[in-house]
Amino acid sequence: MANQEDLFKKIIAHAKEYGFVFQSSEIYDGLSAVYDYGQNGSELKKNIRDYWWKSMVQMHENIVGIDAAIFMHPTTWKASGHVDAFSDPLIDNKDSKKRYRADVLVEDHMAKIEAKIDKEVEKAQSRFGDSFDEQQFRETNQRVLENQKKIDEIRTTFFAALEREDLVAVKAIIEDLGIVCPVSGSRNWTEVRQFNLMFSTNMGSVAEGATEIYLRPETAQGIFVNYLNVQKTGRMKIPFGIAQTGKAFRNEIVARQFIFRMREFEQMEMQFFVQPGQEIKWYEYWKAERMKWHLSLGISADKYRFHDHDKLAHYANAAADIEFDFPIGFKELEGIHSRTDFDLSAHEKFSGKKLRYHDPELNESYVPYVVETSIGLDRMFLAIMSNAYTEEQLEDGSERVVMKIPPFLAPYKVAIFPLTKKDGLPEKASEIMDNLKPDFMCFYEEKDAIGKRYRRHDAIGTPFCITVDHQTMDDNTVTLRERDSMVQTRVKVEELTGIISGKLKNR
Ligand code: GAP
Repeated sequence: MANQEDLFKKIIAHAKEYGFVFQSSEIYDGLSAVYDYGQNGSELKKNIRDYWWKSMVQMHENIVGIDAAIFMHPTTWKASGHVDAFSDPLIDNKDSKKRYRADVLVEDHMAKIEAKIDKEVEKAQSRFGDSFDEQQFRETNQRVLENQKKIDEIRTTFFAALEREDLVAVKAIIEDLGIVCPVSGSRNWTEVRQFNLMFSTNMGSVAEGATEIYLRPETAQGIFVNYLNVQKTGRMKIPFGIAQTGKAFRNEIVARQFIFRMREFEQMEMQFFVQPGQEIKWYEYWKAERMKWHLSLGISADKYRFHDHDKLAHYANAAADIEFDFPIGFKELEGIHSRTDFDLSAHEKFSGKKLRYHDPELNESYVPYVVETSIGLDRMFLAIMSNAYTEEQLEDGSERVVMKIPPFLAPYKVAIFPLTKKDGLPEKASEIMDNLKPDFMCFYEEKDAIGKRYRRHDAIGTPFCITVDHQTMDDNTVTLRERDSMVQTRVKVEELTGIISGKLKNR
């Protein structure tokens, strides 16, 4: 655990040092849970967004993309249920004056019990060696069973209390479990209250009578309110999808953990409109499809797992998360939700406009059901950064930090180095760069020894480095060095574009 915490700190420091992520308004000591992407971070983020868009929109003839405004008519959020139900249960510790999400306190408590189980399993594993049967151990060991029972009991009673919105019972559970404030160590808690997560602002001048509007807490509603516009103008036939990427805002209470939980973040969402009764089939389809997308990045499958929801959101009849093994543990990266006809029906009711589909096959009209895939771009960025961060001991005894970012997502694809600053090498290197620039993000560097330049590009994940030397002037060849293997090959300048694009393809 300490190692993982250490790793997380290293990734955060690396992200800052190499221009990936900065604290927002840092010169004014920052703004809590708000971050800016630097010169390398914004490239990586754009590449992830483009890859998602390509996979979802370009690769599916029945999915189209839109770009809706952040501001929406305030009734949208009445209809969607966000005004009444988009809140977290809050509790304050009277001694430290720190505020917590009641559900997070209980989940952290369960995680501690889970950690005890893992420790038992680890101990037994080293005791029994190869003959160890983990499943059998988990099913029969008394201490494991007792702890598992505790977790199951907490989960059942706690979720039932949340479901009933019984905040008195929620507080009682926190007290019964003896949960203490991590800062003051005391159990001196306030009552539990609901806290709405939407940010609001005013539109129009006060004299005219300003209207309170919200910064959207999810991009999905921009898709729902445009359902009919897109269906009609695009002549879309069910089943079909509408995708969009864009900013969302939530006044998160627990806002630590770097870009994992932010107050301003970006989502990549797709709403898939289907016949009523077909939604579970499509829900399973998109669960599998989205997992395939993650695995297409070449990240090991054991870094991912599904987590089916016990407690469903107010709009869902089935929901699962794709969780990723971040340095802070397995956490939600993406949600796949079967949202029924909740949103479209609610918008019909609140707007008084029909949001139906006339199905030529069934010869009937209905409000479509919706299966949603919703992934946080910033969380995906963090998943890629934490998976990529590698410290390596090299054969010559030196060390390097290399960001093993999937090459097609890397901020820069190619770095070009003249070996020296004389003998026409810089001019030749610039000429090569000018030829590669239209196809790839390129970086030109002539300062410091080649080894140092390699290290700098390893640290930002540049997959290819090209060195222009004296031999280049004679035979028009360069060395092409690959980031992960560090293998260098001599290749002809005119073949560079073909070789690099071949290696960058991701199908
Ligand atoms: N439209 C459905 C929806 O918004 P959600 O589970 O609340 O569902 C979807 O959010 C995804 O958005 C999450 O899986 C996560 O990746 C991302 N996300 C949510 N809140 C976030 C936050 N405060 N900071 C960063 N990403 C967040």
